[in-house]
Amino acid sequence: MKIALALAFSLLASVSVAEDVESVVTLLEFVIDVDEETAAKCLATLRQRVQSGEVTGEQRDAIREQLADKLREVLDTGRESPLYIDTLMLATSWGDKDATRVARDIIANSKESESHRNAAIDALAASRDSGLLSSAQALLEANSTSEAIRSRLLGALGRYDGPSVAVLVLGCYEQLSPNVQPQAIELLTQRASWSRLLLEAIGHNELPASALNINQVRTLLASPDQEIAALVQSHWGAVRTERNPAREGVIRQMRDQLGKASGNPHRGRGIFNRVCGQCHRIYGVGQDVGPEITRNGRGSFEHLLSNVFDPSLVIGASYQARTVITADGRILTGLLAEDNEQRIVLKTQGGKVEIVPREDVDEIAISKLSLMPEGLEKQLPPEQLADLFAFLSLDRPPENSDAIPIAGTPANLIGD
Ligand code: HEC
Repeated sequence: MKIALALAFSLLASVSVAEDVESVVTLLEFVIDVDEETAAKCLATLRQRVQSGEVTGEQRDAIREQLADKLREVLDTGRESPLYIDTLMLATSWGDKDATRVARDIIANSKESESHRNAAIDALAASRDSGLLSSAQALLEANSTSEAIRSRLLGALGRYDGPSVAVLVLGCYEQLSPNVQPQAIELLTQRASWSRLLLEAIGHNELPASALNINQVRTLLASPDQEIAALVQSHWGAVRTERNPAREGVIRQMRDQLGKASGNPHRGRGIFNRVCGQCHRIYGVGQDVGPEITRNGRGSFEHLLSNVFDPSLVIGASYQARTVITADGRILTGLLAEDNEQRIVLKTQGGKVEIVPREDVDEIAISKLSLMPEGLEKQLPPEQLADLFAFLSLDRPPENSDAIPIAGTPANLIGD
């Protein structure tokens, strides 16, 4: 029997789902009855492939039809069934009306667990549920919504087309916490119609141009829309797509500036979380898009300066940014996590994983530059840079009394 279970799982995880709907259905019905743990995994795998669009069209409809009775049985059992949530989210992902109603209630209910609410967000977004869109603003603004749910929601909104997404996100941008704002910007750079509204908001000073890092500016430049490219030039001037040799000058200037400065490492941690934590983990906190930097990249102050201000000087090939344009007009920038005949998987700033079925890839470009954005010195005023470097120049968290400055740290940099 173990073999049958392993087979069920591998069938679901492979391409052959497409050709082999019958076996998938038979095996799933079988595991749901005999082995809940495997069934949960299978349901989750199938759900992921439905949500990413790898299982779609006629195959999806055939699986949905043939599994309907079995899934209904689980759903009728209700929450006592350990498979209830997995089943509910699968059914929601392919637009089942009853399941959709329940999933909407889960999202709106702050007593539900974060993981259930997040799963419901992904499932509703997969079927482009209009209910999710109309409750999104209230959810983003509600005090009871955690940061994790807000950022999940912003990631999910990328599925929707139409300017209303940009209008609602820009409408509540101010109320988002500084850690979540970069994700809102990342979302708005993904579609031309949204980017235009974002650029207009910057033009009207509703939002500072520095809210975008250089990678996001480059994403906008990659837009096929000429008007957007022209607006970008007017706010940011010419943007390089190759390493800028002048970065060495910037390092010199920053060495000088930080040599005279004094910063507060505790405040620096907050700045790190906002600007760097989207991609890096340090002391166990942050996303793992770029390298973990508790142990890496901070061997000495010089090393740190070079890594932060000239990130494209040395790039590991796996850290070159990829830009994927999808058939439905989304522009996604991130690191390549998977690339095969079936799909491309990108890990984007904020830690979100984007799965694009190969046939939905319109264009893919490799940047000569690191995903780590350069020009951070322009995003942060001098006092904040001093705080950030006071934090980064300690070898341990600032509250740890054993923390000492890394080699070469200017004498006055770490203040209190
Ligand atoms: C959009 C994602 C992103 C952001 C934001 C980002 N980084 Fe990076 N960072 C990377 C990537 C990717 C690399 C690996 C670079 C490479 O090999 O080119 C990297 C490399 C580094 C390294 C060198 C690590 C090593 O292994 O040598 C340090 C240090 C670093 N970043 C610090 C920072 C700091 C400090 C900030 C905030 C001011 C920041 N990064 C913001 C993605 C990011």
